[in-house]
Amino acid sequence: MFNIIYLSTATTLLNDFELAEILSISRDNNVAKQLTGMLLYADGTFMQVLEGEKEEVMRTYHKILLDERHKNVIELAAGPLDTRNFPEWSMGFASVNADVLEEFEGYVDPQSKGFLNNEKVNAAIIMLKGFAENNKMN
Ligand SMILES: Cc1cc2nc3c(=O)[nH]c(=O)nc-3n(C[C@H](O)[C@H](O)[C@H](O)COP(=O)(O)O)c2cc1C
Repeated sequence: MFNIIYLSTATTLLNDFELAEILSISRDNNVAKQLTGMLLYADGTFMQVLEGEKEEVMRTYHKILLDERHKNVIELAAGPLDTRNFPEWSMGFASVNADVLEEFEGYVDPQSKGFLNNEKVNAAIIMLKGFAENNKMN
């Protein structure tokens, strides 16, 4: 198992229809490739965790990098994983605003200084997991 986490900026503010389009194709593709994870969208910023077999994760990640619906992709972490953090989600999704996010334990403001250090990346995973579990998304 392998996972990759990145942050990116939506090229334009996306409406619900545009988000649904990304999700729908992602879920279909990810089920077929046994990829799981979580996509968070807040005020024009995406954060995504993708997990699965390394080759599939990287192939999909490279496709995502070329997607013109977002830009400024910042890779936060990439590495091996013992067990999936998001086994139930072909692509869990949440669209929230920062006020809601701040209420979650482990919330880290991507704009804050030091966001990119390791401790904060772990916090990001904890936050995404907490978010997914609290919202029982599928
Ligand atoms: C923020 C973001 C996250 C995405 N996540 C995924 C994903 O998890 N899986 C996926 O297959 N495509 C994802 N996509 C879409 C891909 O960039 C690409 O459009 C899609 O995989 C193309 O699918 P196709 O090769 O079946 O046409 C994402 C796009 C964006 C903008």
